[in-house]
Amino acid sequence: APLHAYRTALLYSLDDPARVGVDSSYRYLPDGLLLVEAGRIRAIDSAANLLPQLPAGTPLQHWSDTLIVPGFVDTHIHYPQTGIVGAGGEQLLDWLARHTYPAELRFADRDYAEQVARFFVAELLRNGTTSALVFPTVHPESVDAFFTVAAELDLRMLCGKVLMDRNAPPALCDTAQRGYEQSQALIERWHGRGRLGYAVTPRFAGSCSDAQLAIAGRLLREYPGVHLHTHLAENRKEVAWVRSLFPARSSYLDVYAHHDLVGPRSVFAHAIHLGDRDCRQLAASGAAVAFCPTSNLFLGSGLFDLGRAERLGLKVGIGSDIGAGTSFSLLQTLNEAYKVEQLQGRTLDPFKALYLATLGGARALGLDDRIGSLAPGHEADFVVLDWQATPLLQFRLQQAQSLAERLAVLLTLGDDRVVRETFVAGQSRHRRDAN
Ligand code: GUN
Ligand code: FE
Repeated sequence: APLHAYRTALLYSLDDPARVGVDSSYRYLPDGLLLVEAGRIRAIDSAANLLPQLPAGTPLQHWSDTLIVPGFVDTHIHYPQTGIVGAGGEQLLDWLARHTYPAELRFADRDYAEQVARFFVAELLRNGTTSALVFPTVHPESVDAFFTVAAELDLRMLCGKVLMDRNAPPALCDTAQRGYEQSQALIERWHGRGRLGYAVTPRFAGSCSDAQLAIAGRLLREYPGVHLHTHLAENRKEVAWVRSLFPARSSYLDVYAHHDLVGPRSVFAHAIHLGDRDCRQLAASGAAVAFCPTSNLFLGSGLFDLGRAERLGLKVGIGSDIGAGTSFSLLQTLNEAYKVEQLQGRTLDPFKALYLATLGGARALGLDDRIGSLAPGHEADFVVLDWQATPLLQFRLQQAQSLAERLAVLLTLGDDRVVRETFVAGQSRHRRDAN
């Protein structure tokens, strides 16, 4: 397979700064060379070390004033909600009824679903996101549409039909039996095809009967490689409502644990209004949570306690949670995460932020042997970020010298404009300056 070489500054996370300290948490090569072969990282080192070994005739792309980082990993996003970003006026439960469910009804139409999936995936790539854990709708057509588009671009993506059988419009509800059969058919069709993986996706306890949650557990037992994706303890009213729906369960998390849905392949969005015991149980199970700051602020849901998650060793990724979230950009999402931390008396270190959007997200999804890093053997999903993308960024960076300072500025001011090019499995899939 042909080699391709890319020369510019390179940066990637090695581990969680909370575990190993900031200085040991990353590798930075100010003049680096990235060697890609057959969709994977073949080698990475300083240009001085690697250039002499480069076989003659290897195509070499050289950028200045840019920084290559791993492609961003969005651990919680809803593609059918692309069209309702910014639809405000309510908090979670009323927002679902007023804006979300009406929008999701349209995804029974496969052609419409595919049209939205194409726009959605293009938007991810424009923002440097190369992998995501994605909610579709209850309709199997919505899953086929999304996976069809993701497969065309060889994206590493996780998705799975939403399971919901109550407390929603009848046209958005399945039954436990139908949910089981449709999930089974979709798993057989898509799981492990190319870079795609299936996630069993009960929407949340509020929209699932015990029978529905039980079939989710059954699917996890019958297909051990699939993920579990749902929402957890996002909003106070939701938590109280779930308690009333499941009076026999000791907590919101216990509703899921009762059906064996809490394990190392499980990802729970939000996890804001959670007791220490549930938080410890999550950590011990190896489950991960998706921290969705723009969504939690937009819906007024609350402030995620990242400090506690670090103390308890709970895996955390970052999620845009489009359409309750307000930006596809994980840079903008981290900008809001910074503020959520400030409101709780903590500071989000820029290298921790980088970790959350890359290796931390990959770990949350159990995919850190493949994505989230630029280390040799990893899949060649990476983004070229432009330090000169906007006048303000240029002006501001004249005052910022250290890498930490520059990274902090990039995370604060950056969005899709700083993403100059996005590579997926070694292929360029988005170029900002292309027409
Ligand atoms: N809880 C259940 N469904 C949803 C959803 O679509 N978005 C958010 N933010 N929370 C949910
Ligand atoms: Fe969500």
